[in-house]
Amino acid sequence: MEKIVIITGGNRGLGLGLASVYHKNGYRVISISKSNIEKLYTVEHYQCDLSKPDTIENTMVEIFSHFDKNNTVNLTLINNAGNLGTVNTLENISPSNISYTIQVNLVAPLILNSLFIKLSKDWDCKKQLFNISSGAAINPYESWAMYCSSKAGVDMMTKVLSKEQKEVQNGVSIVSIYPGIVDTDMQAEARNTPKENFKSVQRFIDFHEHGELISPNEVATKIYHLDISGELKNGRILDIRNV
Ligand SMILES: NC(=O)c1ccc[n+]([C@@H]2O[C@H](COP(=O)([O-])OP(=O)(O)OC[C@H]3O[C@@H](n4cnc5c(N)ncnc54)[C@H](OP(=O)(O)O)[C@@H]3O)[C@@H](O)[C@H]2O)c1
Repeated sequence: MEKIVIITGGNRGLGLGLASVYHKNGYRVISISKSNIEKLYTVEHYQCDLSKPDTIENTMVEIFSHFDKNNTVNLTLINNAGNLGTVNTLENISPSNISYTIQVNLVAPLILNSLFIKLSKDWDCKKQLFNISSGAAINPYESWAMYCSSKAGVDMMTKVLSKEQKEVQNGVSIVSIYPGIVDTDMQAEARNTPKENFKSVQRFIDFHEHGELISPNEVATKIYHLDISGELKNGRILDIRNV
C-alpha cells in the first residue's frame, strides 16, 4: 500500500526538505512548482504556476489520475509554496504584484484544498492537509502587507475547513504549521531588502548573523515526526518552535 504526499514548492527551500524527508521514509512524493524541472531525484515533479487557477485544476486532476485509491493508505497535501512579494509599504507595490502574491499564498491553497477534498471524497484512507503558514499570520510586519494578510487568511481557512470536515464521514484533517526561521531563499530575500523599504530588516540580518536560522531538513524532520506521532490534529494551528 502506498503513502502519498503532494508538496507544492517541493523543488527548493523547505519544500525540498519535506520532499526528501518524506521520500526517505518510504512515501511516494509529488512536487508541484513553477520551475520546469524534469525529474528531481526520485520525486515526481509537475510544473505549474500556482498563480493560475485553471492550471492548478488541470494539474491536480492529472496527478490524481495516476493514483490508485485502493492501494493508498495515506494521502497528504502540503501547501508549502509561497512568496514574500515585493517588500515595501503597500502604496509602493504594483497592483499586479499585490494580486500575484495573494494568488500564490492564499488563492492557490484554497483551490488546491478544495480540489483535494473533492477528488479524494470517496477514498477510505487517512487524508490530511498541511498548510505551511507563518508567525506573520499573527504578527504584523510593516512592508509585508500581502504576506501577513495571506498567512492570516490561510489560518482562517484551516479553522473553517476543520469545522466543515469534522462533519464529514472520513473527512480530511487540516492544520496550519508555523515553521520558524528557515534557512531558505525567502530569508535571504527578507534580509537583503534595502532598509528604506523594510523597517525590520536588521532583525532578519541578526537572525542570520547570530546563527538562528534552522535548516530546511531539520524543520522538515520535525514536521514529519509531528505527522507520524499523530500531533497534527484537525484544526490545530501550531508553531513548531513551541512543540
Ligand atoms: N523561510 C522562512 O523562514 C519561513 C518562515 C515562515 C514561513 N515560511 C513559509 O514556508 C514556505 C516555504 O518557504 P521557503 O522559505 O522554502 O521559500 P523559498 O525558498 O522562497 O521557496 C518558495 C517555493 O515556492 C514555490 N513557488 C513560489 N511561487 C510559485 C508559483 N507561482 N507557482 C508554483 N510554485 C511557486 C517555489 O517554486 P519555484 O522554484 O518554481 O519558484 C519554491 O519551491 C512558504 O509558505 C513560506 O511562507 C518560511
